[in-house]
Amino acid sequence: MGLMEPYRIKVIEPIPITTRAQREQALARAGYNPFNLRADEVTIDLLTDSGTGALSAEQQAASLRADESYAGARSFYRFRDVVEDLTSYPHIYPVHQGRAAERILFTALLSPGQISISNTHFDTTRANLELLGCAARDLPCQEARDLDSAEPFKGNIDLVRLEEVLTGPDARAVGLVVVTITNNGGGGQPVSLANLTAASALCRRHGVPFFLDAARFAENAWLVTQREGAYAGRTPREVARLAFERADGCLASLKKDGIGHIGGLLALRDDALAKKCEGLLIATEGFRTYGGLAGRDLEMLALGLLEATEPEYLRARAEMTAYLAALVTRAGVDIVAPPGLHALYLNAGRLLRHLPPDRFPGHALACELYLAGGIRCLELGSLFLGALDEVRTLITPAPHELVRIAIPRRVYTQSHLEYVAATLAAIARHPERVPGYRVIEAPALLRHFSCRLEPVMPVGRT
Ligand code: F0G
Repeated sequence: MGLMEPYRIKVIEPIPITTRAQREQALARAGYNPFNLRADEVTIDLLTDSGTGALSAEQQAASLRADESYAGARSFYRFRDVVEDLTSYPHIYPVHQGRAAERILFTALLSPGQISISNTHFDTTRANLELLGCAARDLPCQEARDLDSAEPFKGNIDLVRLEEVLTGPDARAVGLVVVTITNNGGGGQPVSLANLTAASALCRRHGVPFFLDAARFAENAWLVTQREGAYAGRTPREVARLAFERADGCLASLKKDGIGHIGGLLALRDDALAKKCEGLLIATEGFRTYGGLAGRDLEMLALGLLEATEPEYLRARAEMTAYLAALVTRAGVDIVAPPGLHALYLNAGRLLRHLPPDRFPGHALACELYLAGGIRCLELGSLFLGALDEVRTLITPAPHELVRIAIPRRVYTQSHLEYVAATLAAIARHPERVPGYRVIEAPALLRHFSCRLEPVMPVGRT
């Protein structure tokens, strides 16, 4: 079967069509940082798949039926029933977004000096650990190092190194293992159920709590049904249940596979830990039956979680991303292979060979996509992950210079993606024309959100 979304469009929103001159002006004013652009200046916004999905008619209808009672609202029970059916966890708390669940769980579970281990901690997860005086250690599997290989589960945690840590000198300091599905910081690659099962068993043997960061649990489940022989023919919901079953609980941003504009989840098995989390939840987010969300958000999330685990929806989303991946690679732009669902990660370092890491090739490609086509995306290279000295010169580059083009759920059509691929293809015909950048202003914390840069023309050009 060819590409076809299992839905049609009922409500539309115009997108800004701009000229190159307007975009040049806008990007200069934004200090050459796409985060500083107004969204009205962006034609195709691929900055994130978080909170940017399109609602279904059913979700909107449910939002009107919502119960906005402070405590015990009907909408909470709808939400709880859906989450319980998926996860089987007895303690289910809504929060306003994923990072709130991180802060609450880590505060309740960890003490300063402890270590959290992950396949890759997402940046807010790492930040919340570090704010508590804990350390975040990433143990991605060896297969993840080769960006080009077609290995099916490059999101896996490295089980050999995990066991080494759990039996080594730091063993007593390990307070938590959290596996991110899919691995957003690691190319959007999935984690196999075999890997989750083994990691879970290791943690149980060593008495370490094992959690999932389940922001994209449905997409991970889909990829398991497609790539892990033992689960071929199972439904994504069945696979998701098996994944949750292996863990002591989960944290999740529901702005991704909850298809909500806002929302998150903390769900747990342990009664004593739940009590502690509940206290923090009430003090900082809201009562346990709303956690900082409105009743209408809970209604929309309950339905979003069901819609996001529908096989036909997931198949269409996977095909969309694979289609874009095929166009992009045909145009000569390499990606982190094989493509997942929520994003493509472009290998900007390889495309813009004339730019060394301290000219930020990932950032340069992101800026060029904006200038050439009004497309906004996210650098995941040395600007985001590298270390700068006090005069803002790069001293430690990131391992790879990537650009993430994230695909919002149910928002863009095939022709939008063809436009993105054509824009990229035009850049790839003359990559040597793309200028590098230097940082002229950078805050100490979370630099990439608000730094300002300026272009540095390639040698021989003005
Ligand atoms: N964990 C993962 C794996 C994430 O991708 C995100 C957010 C979070 C936690 C935090 O959740 O935003 O609801 O507080 N990722 C977004 C992104 C921002 O663009 O990848 P949040």
